[in-house]
Amino acid sequence: MSELNLILLGPPGSGKGTQGERLQEDFRLPYYATGDILRSAVKEGTEIGLKAKEYMDRGDLVPDEVIIEIIGERVQREEAQDGFILDGFPRTVPQSEALGKEMEDLERKLSAALLIEVSDEEVVRRLGGRRTCAANGHVFHIEFNPPKEEGVCDLDGSELLVRDDDRPEVIKRRLQQFHEKTSPLAAYYDEKGILQHVDGDRPPDVVADEIRGTLATIRREEEI
Ligand code: AP5
Repeated sequence: MSELNLILLGPPGSGKGTQGERLQEDFRLPYYATGDILRSAVKEGTEIGLKAKEYMDRGDLVPDEVIIEIIGERVQREEAQDGFILDGFPRTVPQSEALGKEMEDLERKLSAALLIEVSDEEVVRRLGGRRTCAANGHVFHIEFNPPKEEGVCDLDGSELLVRDDDRPEVIKRRLQQFHEKTSPLAAYYDEKGILQHVDGDRPPDVVADEIRGTLATIRREEEI
């Protein structure tokens, strides 16, 4: 079967992480989420982490060159030879161009860019109630996807926390950055014929089923 190289696009809180976890389980492919990678770097106090933190705390995007290097190295890994799932990258036109160039150099192709669409009002509701586990970043929501035991991760038992950038003024800035810098990628990937719209304003299982259906269609078309 051909490789599956996927991009998850969408505003903050659209469910990229939630769907990314499921896709990872379905396809057993490496999952590279730039937000998670940066948060780990911040936690470990690495040079990249120290540099990224000030941007993330404000809700701004970190500079392109930092992120491009991080992802460039990962898609070349042995574990990513059958495909990969990218969450949160690319996020700007220069990032998408850099990824395009990298794929060309590796003689590989992107399979699909899944754009998960939700309104700004829904983003605010979701991020306000999000809880993330301290150990592995598993994601819950106090109302829409509650853990079995309050404040405790179902999967690894670690504490559930509110993310530093889920404060109202930072959410507003992140949304602004999305509309300004990431929205243009929809037209970019549409032109390349790989954009797939996903209505993210439905329960997570329904969204996951739609994505599975879309990917099954793409794979069938590839086989024809
Ligand atoms: P990142 O961590 O990527 O944040 P984000 O894109 O803002 O996305 P989120 O993680 O907030 O949301 P999500 O779409 O994954 O939604 P989730 O599934 O958690 O980036 C953080 C920062 O890092 C950026 O601001 C930037 O500074 C930097 N950065 C990262 N990548 C970068 C790049 N490429 N370039 C430059 N800078 C970069 O869901 C949210 C909540 O809703 C959860 O509580 C969940 O349980 C709930 N939920 C999910 N789906 C549903 C549903 N269908 N119905 C109801 N509730 C739902």
